[in-house]
Amino acid sequence: MIVLGIETSCDETAAAIVTDVPPGPRIRSSLIQTQLAEHAPFGGVVPEIAARAHLDHLDTVIIGALAEADVTLAEIDGVAAAAGPGLIGGLIVGTTTAKGIAWAAGKPFIAVNHLEAHALTARLTDDVCFPYLLLLVSGGHCQLLSCTGVGSYVCLGTTLDDAAGEAFDKTAKLIGLSYPGGPAIERAACEGDARRFPLPRPLKGKPGCDFSFSGLKTAVRHLVVERGCLDPRDRADLAASVQLAICDALADRTANAIAWFRRRHPTGTTLVAAGGVAANQRLRRCLAALAETSGLRFVAPPPVLCTDNAAMIAWAGLERLRLGLVDGLDAPPRPRWPLDPATPQRRAAGVRRQPG
Ligand code: KG4
Ligand code: ZN
Repeated sequence: MIVLGIETSCDETAAAIVTDVPPGPRIRSSLIQTQLAEHAPFGGVVPEIAARAHLDHLDTVIIGALAEADVTLAEIDGVAAAAGPGLIGGLIVGTTTAKGIAWAAGKPFIAVNHLEAHALTARLTDDVCFPYLLLLVSGGHCQLLSCTGVGSYVCLGTTLDDAAGEAFDKTAKLIGLSYPGGPAIERAACEGDARRFPLPRPLKGKPGCDFSFSGLKTAVRHLVVERGCLDPRDRADLAASVQLAICDALADRTANAIAWFRRRHPTGTTLVAAGGVAANQRLRRCLAALAETSGLRFVAPPPVLCTDNAAMIAWAGLERLRLGLVDGLDAPPRPRWPLDPATPQRRAAGVRRQPG
């Protein structure tokens, strides 16, 4: 099969062509037009600017993805678009465009859950089999999930306040680093001493798999106010300390999830990390070490497939299409769309906080 995927749920306008024809799953093209420069002055994503930018760029990106893959619309088997969760303006642009193409080309439309796309990426890159344990860490989400099949997820824990990516973004802003905060903190941390500022590890040592990062953010705010102004050394040390605290907190909760997963799914062999924060090298090392001591294989897609992209949307669409899970042209965009409907809603799941 060959599937066209479209991603417009946040601040990346992306299109990709993915196939599963022998010798196996392959990305034939994956184009991303980032809106970083448009949003950077505001320190976060501005929904109205994002929607307009998607509208401006999407056609060009789709044409580019088809050309780079050297396929025509007649040759594809389906058109997949992220239909949620995310910012409604962008979701409307992406799904409407995808439906128009699907209708005109006479191909099925697949409404993809953006979180499911992150969850299934490891099956595209590393051929991971179900069941597996997933740490999904992005700008809007922080969850531990047991993945037992396409469309079948059990949420073991979620965040009580901020997502891990938000924790990176907000603390970076406090430290005076650029947006997005995750990569900025990772870069600054390379030169820093992670033991200089002892920061809280929220919920560490407590039972369960939930997360909380607001205490960490408050601790950083107090530190910054106390010191008045930060020199480059302080910034690097604080960035390294924040990164370590977030990685420690994530690894601690993941250890509890591994214990549950091993009891519940003795045949499961893999811990997967996905979402933008999974691009962080320090986190990848922490999780790899944890998996090794637990006798699990650790898989994280290459960083460029951890952050938002359309190859993951095309792949999730392809997996659903193989199972006959296609959608009507009346499928609505869904700003909120939990992977596990039984998950208690602790905050506006799927909706990124507005800047400011
Ligand atoms: O998955 P993603 O691209 O978009 C969402 O679906 O939210 O994740 C974006 C988040 C941002 O909060 C960003 O700061 C964080 O991922 N991020 C990172 C890194 N790269 C992106 N966090 C830590 N280290 C990184 N290298
Ligand atoms: Zn994402």
